Amino acid sequence: GAPRVLVTGGAGFIGSHTAKLLRLEGIEPIVYDNLTTGNRSSVRWGPFIEGDILDSDGLIEVIEKYAPDAVIHFAASAYVGESVQNPAKYYNNNVCGALSLADACRQTGLQNIIFSSSCAVYGIPPTLPIDEATPKAPINPYGKTKLIGENVLADYAVAFGLRYVALRYFNACGADPEGELGEWHFPETHLIPRAMQAAAGQIPHLEIFGDDYDTPDGTCIRDYIHVADLARAHVLAFDHLVRGGPNLALNLGTGRGFSIKEVLLMIEETTGREVPIVIRPRRPGDPPSLYADPGLARETLGFRPQHSDLKTIVRTAAPFFGLEVRS
Ligand code: UFG
Repeated sequence: GAPRVLVTGGAGFIGSHTAKLLRLEGIEPIVYDNLTTGNRSSVRWGPFIEGDILDSDGLIEVIEKYAPDAVIHFAASAYVGESVQNPAKYYNNNVCGALSLADACRQTGLQNIIFSSSCAVYGIPPTLPIDEATPKAPINPYGKTKLIGENVLADYAVAFGLRYVALRYFNACGADPEGELGEWHFPETHLIPRAMQAAAGQIPHLEIFGDDYDTPDGTCIRDYIHVADLARAHVLAFDHLVRGGPNLALNLGTGRGFSIKEVLLMIEETTGREVPIVIRPRRPGDPPSLYADPGLARETLGFRPQHSDLKTIVRTAAPFFGLEVRS
């Protein structure tokens, strides 16, 4: 029959876009999600099982029922600020969750895991761009839990023959180019959706967290990667593992950084709406500048972003905020 993938967190932002692409590629996505941050209506491309990542027995049951060829593990908590306030939640969901899944895989003989990691594992990098040899020195609990997740996989690989690809996302953004899925998080804290809410008059203004950084215009620089490109990277990672390729930990970024002000300018140009702003103090834990060296993902997976120019990111995201695209 068709290949199958268990997608934990498949009702979330990146998970649902990936489930859609898997289906398009003839791979059946089996979504397992507890719906705390995921959205039931975003599960449309395969079976849905409501369940928690910490429930190892529940995972084992699903794996035995569907016999997937791999698991893509998105189910995790992903707010840097919240991780500082409530590290217990992050160590539970992200560390115990990864362990629960790795153990369920071990018990059922499911060998292949694709793991959602983050550029947050690097903390404040000593040099730019960030390649995979950059020291991993996370500065917040979120990044630390992602690094522990990667370490669990690496150690289980040595001891138990687990096979994995860890994908370190830079700034995920944008939305389904066909308009079926949007960018949403609850609560919304991410730059591009917040800026669009402000442009659409849904919030009074965008708060810019610091304009006195040591960057050309004083605002933070990030590497924005379109969610459709991230989805593609997961399909490539799946192909890599089923073909017997080696374990990998890869950056997923474009190699280009944009400042907050550059992002806002693109939103204004593309939608014809002004983004009202207020300047606020720096947000604790924000590195001034982060962008990837995307070379290793290109060499090992053939990954090349196709949708991640800033214009396309803004054009695909805008309709979900009721914003027209003018150019
Ligand atoms: N920002 C604002 N105002 C806002 C929201 C964001 O000025 O209302 C700024 C932030 O301070 C930061 C930049 O815009 O400088 C991007 O912020 P996001 O919250 O969109 O993204 P982050 O770079 O903080 O976070 C992303 C991922 C995390 C990951 C982190 C790694 O969302 O999962 O990158 O640094 F951990």
